[in-house]
Amino acid sequence: MKIAIENLNENELKPIYSDASQLGFGRIFTDRMFTMRYNTTGWADAKIEKYKNFSFDPSACVFHYSQEIFEGMKAYASEDGRILLFRPEQNVRRMNRSADRLVMPPIPEEDMLQAIEELVVAEKRWIPKAPGTSIYIRPTMVATEPFLGVHPSSEYLFFIILSPVGAYYKGGFQPIKLYVEDTFVRAAVGGVGDIKTGGNYAASLMAGYEAQRKGFSQVLWLDARERKYVEEVGAMNMFFVFGDKIVTPPLTGSILPGITRASVLELANHLGLKTEERAITIEEVIDGISSGDITEAFGSGTAAVISPVGSLYFKEKDYSLNNVQVGEVTQRLYDTLVNIQYGKAEDPFGWVKEI
Ligand code: PLP
Ligand code: COI
Repeated sequence: MKIAIENLNENELKPIYSDASQLGFGRIFTDRMFTMRYNTTGWADAKIEKYKNFSFDPSACVFHYSQEIFEGMKAYASEDGRILLFRPEQNVRRMNRSADRLVMPPIPEEDMLQAIEELVVAEKRWIPKAPGTSIYIRPTMVATEPFLGVHPSSEYLFFIILSPVGAYYKGGFQPIKLYVEDTFVRAAVGGVGDIKTGGNYAASLMAGYEAQRKGFSQVLWLDARERKYVEEVGAMNMFFVFGDKIVTPPLTGSILPGITRASVLELANHLGLKTEERAITIEEVIDGISSGDITEAFGSGTAAVISPVGSLYFKEKDYSLNNVQVGEVTQRLYDTLVNIQYGKAEDPFGWVKEI
């Protein structure tokens, strides 16, 4: 694919963040973005251009019926000056699975990867080097046809924006408090909970807002049918540590098949831990914490990396884990994963791609 690259004059470049160790998540964006448009003749007009506002017809499909999908991935600066992506082909594949589910046009995998890589390289001055920082990459597709009937759009915009980021949670790698949500639900089997579309996050806002007001970081969702089985957290998949075994809910169609989740399962096996993907009820979790069978819990995600869970609040009671300290298994998995992502440790899986 031929990508046109817009050169910006010195005076058009934004001032870069002053202290990379103070970066939060997703508020700063780089100078340029990738864009490409789709109409009945296919994808065309691929370019890396100045980051700026879009102009859409007010009747554009995405504003009314939420035909939108996105991805989340990161580029890391290694200490020896390389730029590394983590399993980017998995994100590209998941983006096309999301597209398929919402009747949106797929993008050839090699084209999407090329777009991501060329944009990151073009914007490399923005890649932060402080520990725990990276460039967050947000590929997004929106339906742009101006039409109010409910049908798949015939026109789309695909774009990629970049944001230099630090930790997703305010405290960094510190145990977080989760609120177990037993009223609202995030997604039901048969719906769109297993793809990355904005509607899932819109549906989660009310519960998340209430939980945050009460001092929790995020909610832990239960299944939509019975409010019995643990599903996932707002922006991460969930793991429970039973001694030397880690247990995570199975991919039954209502949770996101996280790339970090899949990587944690492989890493854990590699480190000699046992792994189980199985349905786990909230009762089993509460009993396990209370009896000491569950020794740690953590979440996994691109933005969240591996986030230790310090406590669960369920039906008016607080259940704390590992004295609200980062547990040994969580720490080990975090260190191993992060060292691979930043090119500090050997990568026996072939996950890291230098660009
Ligand atoms: N679950 C949800 C709802 C998410 O938004 C994310 C973040 O992408 C994840 C899980 C973790 O997925 P991944 O590890 O691919 O980032
Ligand atoms: C990610 O981890 O990439 C996500 O998409 C989570 C997002 C909701 C911040």
